[in-house]
Amino acid sequence: MSDTHVLIRGQILHYLNDPGPADDPSAWEFFDDGALWITNGHIRAAGPWAAIRANMPPAIRDAATFHDHRGKLVLPGLVDTHIHYPQAGVIGSYGRQLLDWLNDYTFPAEARFADYAVAEKTATFVVDRLLAHGTTTASVFATVHAHSVDAFFRAAEAKKLRMLCGKVLMDRHCPDTLSDTAESGRADSQALIERWHGKGRLGYTLTPRFAPTSTREQLQATGELFASRPDLHLQTHLAENRAEIDWVRQLFPERSSYLDVYAHYGLLAPRTIYGHCIHLSDAERHEMTASGAAAAFCPTSNFFLGSGAFDYAASTAAGLRVGLATDVGGGTGFSLIRTLGQAYEASQIHGTPLSAMRGWYLATLGGARALYLDDHIGNFQPGHEADFTVLDWTATPELAWRMDNTHSLAERLFALMILGDERCVVATHVMGERASPG
Ligand code: GUN
Ligand code: ZN
Repeated sequence: MSDTHVLIRGQILHYLNDPGPADDPSAWEFFDDGALWITNGHIRAAGPWAAIRANMPPAIRDAATFHDHRGKLVLPGLVDTHIHYPQAGVIGSYGRQLLDWLNDYTFPAEARFADYAVAEKTATFVVDRLLAHGTTTASVFATVHAHSVDAFFRAAEAKKLRMLCGKVLMDRHCPDTLSDTAESGRADSQALIERWHGKGRLGYTLTPRFAPTSTREQLQATGELFASRPDLHLQTHLAENRAEIDWVRQLFPERSSYLDVYAHYGLLAPRTIYGHCIHLSDAERHEMTASGAAAAFCPTSNFFLGSGAFDYAASTAAGLRVGLATDVGGGTGFSLIRTLGQAYEASQIHGTPLSAMRGWYLATLGGARALYLDDHIGNFQPGHEADFTVLDWTATPELAWRMDNTHSLAERLFALMILGDERCVVATHVMGERASPG
């Protein structure tokens, strides 16, 4: 079969590294008149338009599908490191704080996924919306129902997306209709791993909801399953809310901390990602770093549920891997651009304002690294999968007005992260091909 080639022209920005708090310019590459040459869905080369074009044999250049995005920003696909797809229908539910919100809105919504048709319809909707918002990879919570994972992976597979998803493990402190058992949770997870893990671009992530909704037996079984294969992922929640933390202390008096519960059961390791991580000590951040675990920074959710403000500067200073996340439906929408704006606001609360150059790293390569997927996605290095999104700097009159007053790339990127949203997303490509608008 002959190779297929795609050629993109636009303003290309991608990261090779975390720019850090001092905005190290060697961490990114920006090609104002840039190009991506994509072969069979993978990056062949990224660089200045003139150089890439000159290097392409004329026959390939003529055969390539060309997308002209001149004047638009071409970024690696955004990475949402923590999202609950079944909660799409409860975004924006007036819910006081976390534990009430879970009981009043979230559990009833998830219970409706006992019906496969609900899961299928929601999965299709969410995958479509993710693409429309420029997100090409996510770490996704399904519900306790195994078929909710089937529905999500089918929808992701149809769009050729790189996605992680897992069945929620939850065997106590939840409605009976949403409860599994240590044994059924293990068996269902095992069957889903066999069915989906490593199928195309899909990966399985073990998903104990959070310590309060799993018995010791379930956490033990999950740790054993996680240890049984080196290539699985794992996701859960940690230190989001004060009442939640007090509850964990009561439920696990034998453990020294919330984090220690997870560590004890073998759940703190590389390829694990913890949602929220707000109320942690510096020693705990260092413990997470040493273990290889990552944190998902969910500012829209944290402000919406009144949980607090994640300390990005302290977390990264401790060496922690951090990804950005919407945490829909605690979060207020699918836009990682809006989420980035709120990440800035959270960072201001700690007196350590997040720069634009670091912010866009967080939304792309930072997320890929947090999920241990940076061998495949996150930047435009040769061989990487060509997922990217194309943003219009001037999508709204306000942005256009503001951009007239910017004088540097950093200023433009900062205005985009504060004023931008899904209206800026002109196109999203998956493995080189345009996937949205479809
Ligand atoms: N903690 C346990 N479950 C959830 C959830 O669904 N959303 C959020 N934000 N926190 C949780
Ligand atoms: Zn969550």
